[in-house]
Amino acid sequence: MTIAYPSTPPVVAAPSGAPRPRLTFLGTGYLGATYAICFAELGYEVLGFDVDEAKISKLSGGDVPIHEPGLDELLRKNLSAGRLRFTTSWEEVAEFGDVHFICVGTPQRPDGMAADLSHVESAVTNLAPLLKRKALIAGKSTVPVGTAEWIEQLVRRHTPAELGVEVAWSPEFLQEGVAVEDVLRPNRIIFGVKSDWATGMLYAAHKGVFDLALTEDREVPVVVTDFATAELVKVAANAFLATKISFINAMAEVCEAAGADVTQLARSIGYDARIGNKFLRAGVGFGGGCLPKDIRAFQARAQELGVGEALRFLHEVDLINQRRRQKIVQLSAELLGRGYGPAGPDLAGTRITVLGATFKPNSDDVRDSPALSVVRKLARSGAEVTVYDPEGMDNARNDVADVTYSKTLTDAVTGADLICVLTEWEEFRNADPNSLNELVAARRVIDGRNCLDQSVWVAAGWEYRGMGKPAVA
Ligand code: UDX
Repeated sequence: MTIAYPSTPPVVAAPSGAPRPRLTFLGTGYLGATYAICFAELGYEVLGFDVDEAKISKLSGGDVPIHEPGLDELLRKNLSAGRLRFTTSWEEVAEFGDVHFICVGTPQRPDGMAADLSHVESAVTNLAPLLKRKALIAGKSTVPVGTAEWIEQLVRRHTPAELGVEVAWSPEFLQEGVAVEDVLRPNRIIFGVKSDWATGMLYAAHKGVFDLALTEDREVPVVVTDFATAELVKVAANAFLATKISFINAMAEVCEAAGADVTQLARSIGYDARIGNKFLRAGVGFGGGCLPKDIRAFQARAQELGVGEALRFLHEVDLINQRRRQKIVQLSAELLGRGYGPAGPDLAGTRITVLGATFKPNSDDVRDSPALSVVRKLARSGAEVTVYDPEGMDNARNDVADVTYSKTLTDAVTGADLICVLTEWEEFRNADPNSLNELVAARRVIDGRNCLDQSVWVAAGWEYRGMGKPAVA
């Protein structure tokens, strides 16, 4: 059932007796921290929980442990307003909350493609036995279909039946870099529920979002559905987005062979409203804490359900994506005049500067970052690699230790034989190649995100290579 809120809401009272349900967010990573802070901003009383004491003390002190534009300011504002607190105590969480949102990570398991649900399990089994009144445990984390049913069983096992604790699933769709906007002004909300009480509670827990929409003359579509559909909405959306990116990157491969330009191809097909121009940027491919591991976990779950063939194409989507990373190494060898044999190129003695470490701009997240994956490959081929990123340096250093990190763009490019732009930060897009001319050892650039103005770089005397574009010297 799809409802465009605000409409007539089901009314249920918060079990704590508070005028609005009190919300807890379990796990204060990219997802939970953003939600906790934004829902306090929407006027809710909020408690954020994490097992990581360092993270909690940072947040309590007004310091956001991640880089997400606009979040610092909202954190400090809502801490001072007294609506927002953070804790490492399960007892406090159980005592405080009417709705407990599960926001913990579900990373890829080290032994395969499936999702690791140990954090979800631990959140539920720690919280449930401490509950003293009715509450709603609502999942937001991305999980394999069937998880909500399993959580319901865990809750039944760990809470007395007379409390009537319920479970719901309400996946989130925030994109890093614009996460605050995505949480405050979502394009849709999904309620996976089994009872009217759960629907009413979720409605009350999101009323702030609907009220904000009302003041801005917008409506927020809400799909009220079953657990399995709600869980699948999230992975299906991410699988579709990953497929769209890999589709255009496959076209880039064809363009490279045929001497065509994928950026013009993408623009041309994107004018068809059925296709649309979003998520059609060819380049070094997708990364991050979501798309890569979600398409793998989805395939693993489909196998378990006996429908592995239905998602076999996602394996191809993954392979196309991985090939784009290798393409940067291949282009580097080509530009530097090095042979490319079966064991890869020999880049020994070359100095390559990689601009970008995060998986996308306006984030400090380097999880499964294409840029860092290329850094590793280049270093493995013998290149001396120098990396610069405006926000991701600390995380990058923890991930890849044995390369050089520079504090500024100018330092990073000085003496380089080749520059690879692998994350489309504004600082790189706007860099004036003329001002870099005297710093580099040779004017060669690979535009791994097709984000530079090719004509300006070529006019400044640079040998330029884009992704899926004809070579320009
Ligand atoms: C994604 C989903 O977009 C979001 O809805 C979900 O909640 C979490 O996963 P996020 O991981 O923040 O969000 O990044 P997204 O903006 O989707 O980008 C993913 C990757 O795809 C990035 O590495 C980005 O550079 C790449 N990308 C994106 C492309 O290569 N081409 C494009 O056209 C778009």
